[in-house]
Amino acid sequence: MMTKLFSPINLKKISLKNRIVMSPMCMYSCFNEDGMITPFHVTHYVSRAMGQVGLVMTEAAAVLPEGRISPQDLGIWNNEQVAGLTDLNNQIHQAGSKSAIQLAHAGRKAQVDTPIYSASTLAFDESYKKPQQMTWQNINEVVSAFREAAIRADKANFDIIEIHAAHGYLINQFLSPLTNKRTDNYGGTRENRYRLLREIVTAIKEVWEGPIFVRLSTDEYNEEGNSLADIIYFSNMLKEQGVDLIDCSSGGVIPAKIHTYPGYQLKRCEFIKQKANIKTGAVGLITTGLQAEEILQNERANLIFIGRALLRNPYWAKTAADEFNYEIEAPQQYKRGWF
Ligand code: FNR
Repeated sequence: MMTKLFSPINLKKISLKNRIVMSPMCMYSCFNEDGMITPFHVTHYVSRAMGQVGLVMTEAAAVLPEGRISPQDLGIWNNEQVAGLTDLNNQIHQAGSKSAIQLAHAGRKAQVDTPIYSASTLAFDESYKKPQQMTWQNINEVVSAFREAAIRADKANFDIIEIHAAHGYLINQFLSPLTNKRTDNYGGTRENRYRLLREIVTAIKEVWEGPIFVRLSTDEYNEEGNSLADIIYFSNMLKEQGVDLIDCSSGGVIPAKIHTYPGYQLKRCEFIKQKANIKTGAVGLITTGLQAEEILQNERANLIFIGRALLRNPYWAKTAADEFNYEIEAPQQYKRGWF
């Protein structure tokens, strides 16, 4: 049976062998607090490439040290971090997968020793530090940090960049009226709230020719938060700027209870795909091959991001293929014992 899940897709010059993406997942494992990749990371990511995931995406990698969620976060803020990432990509490519890096800045959700900053001065909750309101100079520094990180991602041979604009981290703090109370031209209207993301996409495109994904929180679970119309506006703008795909997640902007169930973020993912006419990635409690195939066949998304199911089973792709009696490629060294 020919499945869509196991059919290739082209994104600019990058061809993915199937539609399965390893969703970005922080491992908080840089124990020297230097953001440098460790042997753990290489084992962790390369085993998913061996498991025939089409695109292996790293966890959130900080573009500045003060933008880390924790001191153990992965980083891409200096040139010393490039060699280890290059080695990771060599191994992912040898295993036949493509690689992506998620570029991130935590803003007010950074839990580091240095002062933290955000769109405005509201803390996430009482356990978090109160951020300083970013000056225009701070904003310019962050934009150029994303540009520099994209140059390093290129040097390290990543195939795709994802901008983390979701889950209430810095970019999302600018996008959302819940966290952005600015009165300058970075706050107020949705056009203004989009300005930081616009500048980041523009800066990355100056130095990066490959595909760009953007992860958005498509639902903030609060009536005062971004509406679906706001999200469609952002998606239209991203499409106009040449972004290739919206990775449709949700939540994290303010503390909120999220009701989760299989495919809980799919409705908005499908809506964005139709209304903004842009490729989308579906994520969130997608656990079986049949579920993934339904999403793709009904054109609700173009890629399927798998998170926790891939933590539990690095060979999730093989397990999913078995549901269709579809024979996926084996890692070259495993061919004699794969079926
Ligand atoms: C995550 N998630 C996440 N998302 C993101 O954009 N950047 C990140 O670094 C992380 N880190 C992270 C760590 C861990 C341990 C988990 C479980 C999750 C969210 C993740 O990418 C995914 O969107 C959700 O887990 C929902 O998908 P699943 O797990 O239901 O397939």
